[in-house]
Amino acid sequence: MDVIIMPTKAMAEKMGAAIIANTIKAKPDCTLGLATGRTMEHLYDILVEMHQKEGLDFSLCRSFNLDEYVGFDGSNVNSYRYFMNHFLFDRVNIDKRNTHVPNGVAEDLAAAAADYEEQMDACGGVDLQLLGIGRTGHIGFNEPLSSFASRTRAVTLTKTTYEQNSPLFENPADMPMRAVTMGVGTILEAKRLLLVATSSEKADIVAKMIEGPVSSMISATALQLHEDAVVVLDEDAAAKLAGKEEYKWSFKHDPRWAAYQNI
Ligand code: F6R
Repeated sequence: MDVIIMPTKAMAEKMGAAIIANTIKAKPDCTLGLATGRTMEHLYDILVEMHQKEGLDFSLCRSFNLDEYVGFDGSNVNSYRYFMNHFLFDRVNIDKRNTHVPNGVAEDLAAAAADYEEQMDACGGVDLQLLGIGRTGHIGFNEPLSSFASRTRAVTLTKTTYEQNSPLFENPADMPMRAVTMGVGTILEAKRLLLVATSSEKADIVAKMIEGPVSSMISATALQLHEDAVVVLDEDAAAKLAGKEEYKWSFKHDPRWAAYQNI
C-alpha cells in the first residue's frame, strides 16, 4: 500500500484528481470505478477544471459506480446517479451511455447486480477504482461483516451510516435503509485502488484501515490485500497513523511518485 499525506484537504483532492487524470492520459479508453460522497465533490470539480482548461478527455472512458440506494432512480436528487451527473458526467465529455450506476429500482435486484458484474467483465474490468471510507470503515456500502469475497448485491445499511448520510437528505427520514453496492471481492478485482480520505473525523478509521489487523469488521482493511492500493490523505485524516513520518519519507523518495512531488 502507498500512503500519500498532503498538507491540506484541497491538496489531497488535487493529488487524487491528478492520479485519475494520469490514468486517463495513459489509457484514454480506461474503465474507471467511481465513488460519491462529500469527499469526492471537490475532487470532481478539479477533474472538470482539467477538462475545461487542459482538455482532459473523457470521451473514450467507461465508468462503473460503487453503489446506489435501493428505490432511487436518477430523477431523485439524493440518488447517486443524480450526484454523478451533477458533479461530473454533465460537466465533461464522457459519453453517458458508457457510465454505469447500480440499478436500485430493478424488480429483481439480485439479477440486476449479477448483470452489473457481467458488464464490468465485458469492459475488461476496472482499471482504477476510486474509494472513500465511511465511519464504519465501509468501502462502497460494504458494512462491517461484509465478506471479502462479496459481490455486487443489495445490503442493509448500519445505524452509523444512516447517521452519517441522512443529514444530506432534505427530510432525513427519506434516506433508504438499503443500497446496492459492489462487493469487497468486486472492488479487490480492480487493477488499482485509490482511496481518498480527508478531515479529522476520518482519523481513527483511517489508522485502523492502514495499520490495524485485516478484518471483515472493517471492509477498508481489505486494501491491505491488494497489490496496488494507494491511499491519499490530508494531515487531519492522517493524524492517528503511527508510521506517518515513515510514509511521508517513502513517498518523497520513491521514484514511482517522482512526477507527483510538486502537486
Ligand atoms: C459512496 C461510497 C461511500 C463513501 C463513504 C464516505 O459512493 O461508496 O463508501 O465513499 O461513505 O463518504 P463521505 O465522502 O461523504 O465521507
